[in-house]
Amino acid sequence: MSELLCMKGITKRYGNGVLANEDASFSLREGEIHAIAGENGAGKSTLMKILFGAEQPTEGTISLRGKPVKISSPRVATELGIGMVYQHFMLVDELPVYLNVFLGVEKRKGLLLDKQAMIDATRALCEKYDMPVDPTALCGDLPVGLRQKVEILKVLAREAKIIILDEPTAVLTPQETEQLFHQLRILRDNKHTIVIITHKLKEMKELCDRITIMRQGKTVGVVDVCDVDEQKLSELMVGSTVRLKVEKAPVRAGEVVAEMKKVTVPGSGKPKLDSVSFVARAGEILCLAGVEGNGQQQAIECLTGQIAYSGSVQVLGEEILGKSIRKIRDLGMAHIPEDRMTMGTDQRASLHENLISVDFDRNTRLGFLKSKHLKARSEKQLKDFLVKGERQTPISMLSGGNMQKVVVARELSQQPRLVIANQPTRGVDVGAIAFIHEKLVELRDQGCGIILVSADMSEVFSLADRIIVFHEGKIAAEITDVENTTEQQLGRYMLGVERMEAAQ
Ligand SMILES: Nc1ncnc2c1ncn2[C@@H]1O[C@H](COP(=O)(O)OP(=O)(O)O)[C@@H](O)[C@H]1O
Ligand SMILES: [Mg+2]
Repeated sequence: MSELLCMKGITKRYGNGVLANEDASFSLREGEIHAIAGENGAGKSTLMKILFGAEQPTEGTISLRGKPVKISSPRVATELGIGMVYQHFMLVDELPVYLNVFLGVEKRKGLLLDKQAMIDATRALCEKYDMPVDPTALCGDLPVGLRQKVEILKVLAREAKIIILDEPTAVLTPQETEQLFHQLRILRDNKHTIVIITHKLKEMKELCDRITIMRQGKTVGVVDVCDVDEQKLSELMVGSTVRLKVEKAPVRAGEVVAEMKKVTVPGSGKPKLDSVSFVARAGEILCLAGVEGNGQQQAIECLTGQIAYSGSVQVLGEEILGKSIRKIRDLGMAHIPEDRMTMGTDQRASLHENLISVDFDRNTRLGFLKSKHLKARSEKQLKDFLVKGERQTPISMLSGGNMQKVVVARELSQQPRLVIANQPTRGVDVGAIAFIHEKLVELRDQGCGIILVSADMSEVFSLADRIIVFHEGKIAAEITDVENTTEQQLGRYMLGVERMEAAQ
């Protein structure tokens, strides 16, 4: 098969300084289904956004059929026959399917929209690719699996030859995934070339011809699917990460600070959490590891009172079902949420206001704010946590890393007995990462329990005293001897190649 597309030396530095791609390369053969695999944050989405013209590379070149091209926008990509289905769909709920499909490229009869022609064309595409979508249905009424089909139809209506799908199966049930694969195979048989981002090994083996593996922004390998087994693939994906050095005394685990007993959270199809039980102890860093979407997020949401569940969840000795987040915090729990922009901070407020927001009412006397005390405390927190900003600075002016330091400062200064840290260093600069790690270890040594969720292997290995691995809503392994466990072994549990017999 001839080479259709080639990306070379692609480097992408985002405005916040994050190096998302570093000298990455990628090539496509006409008519293949090509997977891009790699851990979270490996740079997969960025590389594909560059191919689709949605991001511009800092360095690097792209050529199509041997000719250099500059893909300066998605419009240019569309003209070149490249289409992309993003992870988050971009449909207009209020419009019917056929109008979404032809949005921006409407068929017209004179000045008027040619409704019938668009309905017919949509129907013809559905039939050709075996997609059971009603062209006249309202997009807002469709389940997620069908909304995804509409996104694919949009790309097809623009006559894309190269179709990129960013983690399309993350939102699908197993049956819907089967259907999607069936449709992708029909597309391949019709001379389309498909790129699919996924970290599910089974899917790669089942569907794809070749796999490009990315790690830390770089391309670390391209393999023919028939030449590798799942074991080899998981090793390529995980690699051997550098273990960051964090000074840590031996663990002295104390009383139980959180416990889940037979907790189930339903999902569409398979449950998101399937009868999960574990305990977290004082003085210990327990890491909930797993590839995104395997239940660890739901476990955190249960512990912080954000979602409904069946079974029992206890935090600091109390059953939390029905308790408000405020009440759970008052028990002595601090929470560093993953999404600091929407959950962790008030973007309209200053650093000071963000720092005092959690214990505002504990610092009032007779209705008056103890403002002097609070001001001094904020000053100290900003200084202690090396935040680059003044008390009055609006938090929206800060870089992501500094914003995260504000959230961490606020949460860790509450003298918590339990800290839930969800991806606490994602997108944070190296200096701040080390600092946040030190703070977490310091609290642990003072007898606080820490539950850490992290998709970053080196973070898991440098911090965890014990690791619970989630796979498909269940606990696949519990690792107590972290020091003598390899990344490869953890990777096999995370990717479902192996599970520990005694785990559940
Ligand atoms: N718009 C953005 N601005 C700043 N950093 C970003 C942006 N998008 C992604 N990143 C960062 O770039 C790195 C690679 O991200 P991404 O390409 O989304 O990885 P993947 O798709 O493999 O999970 C991550 O560290 C991520 O936080
Ligand atoms: Mg991605």
